[in-house]
Parts: sequence; structure tokens; C-alpha cells
Amino acid sequence: MLSTDSLIKSSKLETYDAYSYSEPDRIRVKHLDLELEILFDQRILKGTATLILHERFVGDLVLDTRDLTIEDAEYSAHGREFFRTAFELGAGDPVRGAPLIIHLPSEASAVRLRYITSENASGLQWLDALQTAGKRHPFLFTQSEATHARSWVPIQDSPRVRMTLSARVRMPADVKAVMSAVNNAEAWRKSDPQFTMPYPIPAYLLALAAGDLDFRELSTRTGVFSEKTIVEEAAREFENLEEMLCAAEALFGPYRWGRYDVLVLPPSFPVGGMENPCLTFTSPTIIAGDKSLTSVIVHELAHSWSSNVANGATWRHFWMNEAFTVYMERRILEQLYGSRRAEIEAVLGLQELKRELSRLDAKDQVLEGQVNGRDPNSNATQVPYEKGALFLRTIEETVGRRRFDEFLREYFNHFAFGTVTTSQFVEYLRKNLLYAYQDAEPKLSIEEWIHGAGIPKGAAYPTSDVLEKVERRAQDWLEGRISLRDVQRSAWTTHEWLRFLECISGRIDTAKMQELDREFDLTNSGNAEIEYQWLLMAVRNRYTPAYQRLEQFLTAVGRRKFLKPLYLELAKTPEGKKWAQAIYDRASPNYHPISRDAVKSVLN
Ligand code: BES
Ligand code: ZN
Repeated sequence: MLSTDSLIKSSKLETYDAYSYSEPDRIRVKHLDLELEILFDQRILKGTATLILHERFVGDLVLDTRDLTIEDAEYSAHGREFFRTAFELGAGDPVRGAPLIIHLPSEASAVRLRYITSENASGLQWLDALQTAGKRHPFLFTQSEATHARSWVPIQDSPRVRMTLSARVRMPADVKAVMSAVNNAEAWRKSDPQFTMPYPIPAYLLALAAGDLDFRELSTRTGVFSEKTIVEEAAREFENLEEMLCAAEALFGPYRWGRYDVLVLPPSFPVGGMENPCLTFTSPTIIAGDKSLTSVIVHELAHSWSSNVANGATWRHFWMNEAFTVYMERRILEQLYGSRRAEIEAVLGLQELKRELSRLDAKDQVLEGQVNGRDPNSNATQVPYEKGALFLRTIEETVGRRRFDEFLREYFNHFAFGTVTTSQFVEYLRKNLLYAYQDAEPKLSIEEWIHGAGIPKGAAYPTSDVLEKVERRAQDWLEGRISLRDVQRSAWTTHEWLRFLECISGRIDTAKMQELDREFDLTNSGNAEIEYQWLLMAVRNRYTPAYQRLEQFLTAVGRRKFLKPLYLELAKTPEGKKWAQAIYDRASPNYHPISRDAVKSVLN
């Protein structure tokens, strides 16, 4: 049997957060009380953050900030009277921001800070009225994961620190606000709403959005928020939200957070979905009209049972956040739509992982520590997601589903509302599950999964006969054995299309591109995932009829996952790069800081 010792290289490394200046081993904040004023004209937040400390301590409190102006700092011993105290903003660095050092007497139990955010706060995106769907009111939203909460709240911005939250928001009369809080359905209609989150959450799950919001109830505990102009469309696309929740509960136990709502953001939202507790934030690009892309919602929902309950203690354990979630997402999909659909998504995920592995250095193919000293914000690969999920699937196959499900429920109960390190997980796994299975350890090669490159032998690979059929058709068409008519004898689902396009991508010429477009009008697909694949192929093949659409897409959509590869493909030729730069210059005011950074890194 392998020992855990090799996993615990050093317990310090296990919990040391290289991306935060705060020192959670010395002192922890347990509650955050926020007062925020949204000033759309100046594109700033004026805030008062009151931090309640876990216990009295001696020394300074160090918080994370990025581009914040701190106006003053006070402390209190008993929560009533506050007294001015000295503070300094350290020099900091581009990845971590600047440490805020607050000098405190030993009787301090709370700290109050008045501050102002900067116009280029990395965690905020400000949209003018014209950049919204309704065109009449400005919009603001946050994206705090991985290390952007510190750009709008001075805070211990480390995943190791969980805190409860209360907040009040002030804003112009014609906009409404929501937060990652349990009470949006009551609070959001008010002009000075108050929000509460009674369960402790890490800073990366802090979230706020404000704009011309509307709401549609979908069931007594679910609903959808979005700009007024798209709320009906969004409500139709997500009409089975309650069913999704029930499917997850059937597998993983009661939903712990009260309400579950979805907020659909403007197209510049930089990620597909973000698991802000009680209120998933999502890109409008997942609305396809036929519910075919709602697995993103299932994914974010699954986070409510996985990392939102017990997250990786630092970013080196990020894989645990996403691996459990992807694994559980597929299980929920299976529960809802059957194993065929779930396997299709698993195979597509695996294909993406394999493509990614072929490009990545060995050191970036590991689960633990995959961040490797780089900025955790720019590090999203398929490894923590798909390799991680495949590892869990392999454990499931080894011990059987019934036992693994039981284990998952126990594991999240055990660590509930806390954090976990990789070796804590492995230890728990061995003690509570694997001990009963004699040949599990040699079969599983845990160490290799976690610290090795590539995919270990014995992985429980998914298969899909539906996709295999698509692959054969693609091959037959490429080699001229069948006509385009025969390729698609019955209507294909989004996922069949995606697999087909992947199979032929890079292997067809302009004539074949033309033939495809004539038959299926892919340039105007209306499904963002299909469109994205098609546009990528268009750049590769210099298929000019799609260029206008490409330019539109790059201007309208701010989702990093689409932007980065498209710009990368464009930048491969000198003319392409010139055009990409021109598009970027025009489009970048619409991009979120996170996406802007991603594209800039490609163009430079
Ligand atoms: N938590 C992630 C988003 C994230 C990760 C933001 C790291 C910032 C840093 C979220 O749950 C996620 O994984 N979203 C995916 C979609 C999902 C279906 C794989 C996305 O946005 O692409
Ligand atoms: Zn996720």
C-alpha cells in the first residue's frame, strides 16, 4: 500500500496560500458586514466593511486588497464603540495585490474600514446602458474567483477563510441589486436591500450584481433573474430548474442553502457559469433555445453539494472544487436524462482533456498543485475538471456506485462549511472507503493520479455509441464515401454536432466548408458552442463568408473560453493577427478585465 507520506510533502506547503497576504493561521475573520454604495457615473463602489474576528489576538491584522483606496480604519473591543487605528498599504505585487496592515490592540474583536474601489477593479465589470440588452440602465457585476474579491472588499481573500455575511446596498432608484445570499427573492425589489448569508463562505464566492433586473419564479425555491428584456427567454430555458434540484437531492441529500436562483448576465460575463451560493451567475451564451447547453447550470448547481460545502483550502487544491463538481454534474445529468446523455458529455469532456494534455507540459498535468506558482486566475485547463472527474469515476467503478455515493455524502458532511486539502481527502478516502477493498489501492494508483502526468492505467473511460456513430460518419464524409445528406440522416443534437465538427476540424478545405454551410447554415447557428467551433474552423480554413459573423461574435461575447482560442487561431498568421488586433481595439471596452487579460496575453 502506498503511504500518504509522499502526498504530504510538507504540511506547510499543503495549507500555505501563495496568493494571499492574510495569515489565517494567526487570525481569522468570521463575519463580514458590508455596506456598499454603487456609483455608476464614477464606476466605483464606496464601501464600509466591518470584519468580526474569531477571537482576540495580539498583533496586526493583514488583509488582501487590490487597487483599493482605504480611507480609514477603526477597531472595536465589544462591537459598540469604534476607535481610529493606524494602517498601512504595503507595496504588494501584481498577482497578490497589496497587503493592508491594520495595527490592533489585543482587545480588538472587530475592525471597520471605509474604502473606495478603483475604476479598473479586476473583480468588477461596469457596463454603460448601451452595453446592456435593454440599453436604458447601466449594469454592474462581480466575478470574485479566483482572487478578485480583494478588488472590491478588503478581506482575507484566501479559500481557507470562510465567513458569514450581512450586507446593505445603496444604488440609483431605477436599478435593482442581488447578492450571493439566501434572501434574494425578498430583498431584490427594495431600493436599499439587505442581504444575509448565514453559512460561512470563502471570499471567492462573494458576489453582487445590479442593473435593470427582473425576476421570474420557477418554483417555490427556484427562479431566474436577468435584464427585463430576456427574462422570459431565460425562464423558458431554465424551466426545469426545480427538477434539476430534486435530481441532485435524490443523489446527494437535501439542498442546504434554501433558495436556488440563476442570474443571467449580459454577454460580456467572462465565464460560462459561476457557482455563487444561492445565486448561480451565468453567461447568456448558454441559452440555446432548446435547453441543450443547460449542463452548465447543472454544473454550477452541483457546486452547492461539493465545493460550496467544502472547498479546496488553497488554490493548489483547486482540482477538488471542480473534479467533484464535474463528477456530480454527470451523475445529475444521468438521473435527469439517462446515461446516454451523461456519457455523451463525459466523452466530450474526455476528448477535450486529451487535446489539452497533448499541449501541456508534464508539470501542468498533475491534479494537486497544478497552479504551480502562476496566477490561479489564468490557469483554467481541463486537468482539474476532467482528469479530476475521471479519477473519481475510477474510484466509483472500483468500489461500486452505492458505496461511493454513501461515501460522498459522508465526506461532505464531515467537512461541511470548512475546507479540505488533497491529503486530507486522500486520508479520509483510505480510512472511510478503501480500507474495505483489498485490491483497491494497487488498482487505483492514487499517487499517480494526483501527482503524475497524463491519465493513469485503469481509468474508467466513458464511451458513447451515439458519438462513435458520428465519428464514423465524419470519417466517411471526409473520405468521400458518403454525401453530406447521408451524414445527418436524422436531426442531430447539439452534442452530436459538436463532436462532428471536432472530428472534421483541421481536416477540411474551403469547398467542404462551403458545402457544410450551404446545407446547415452553421455561420448563423444561434447556438454559441456550435458557432464557436464553426468560427474556429473558419479561421483555420480562411473561410471568408463567416468573417463578418466572427467579428460580430468577438465583439458581442466576452466569455473567455470562446475568446482566447479564437484570438489564438487568428494570431497564427500575420494578417490574422493584424485583424485580431483591430477587432480587439474596438471590442475590448466591452470585455471584462479577466477576458481582456486573456486576449492580451495571446496578442502579445
Ligand atoms: N468555478 C468555475 C469558474 C471559475 C473557475 C472562475 C476558476 C474563475 C476561476 C465554474 O464552476 C466553472 O467551472 N465554469 C465553467 C463551466 C462548467 C460547465 C465547466 C465555465 O465557465 O466555463
Ligand atoms: Zn465549476
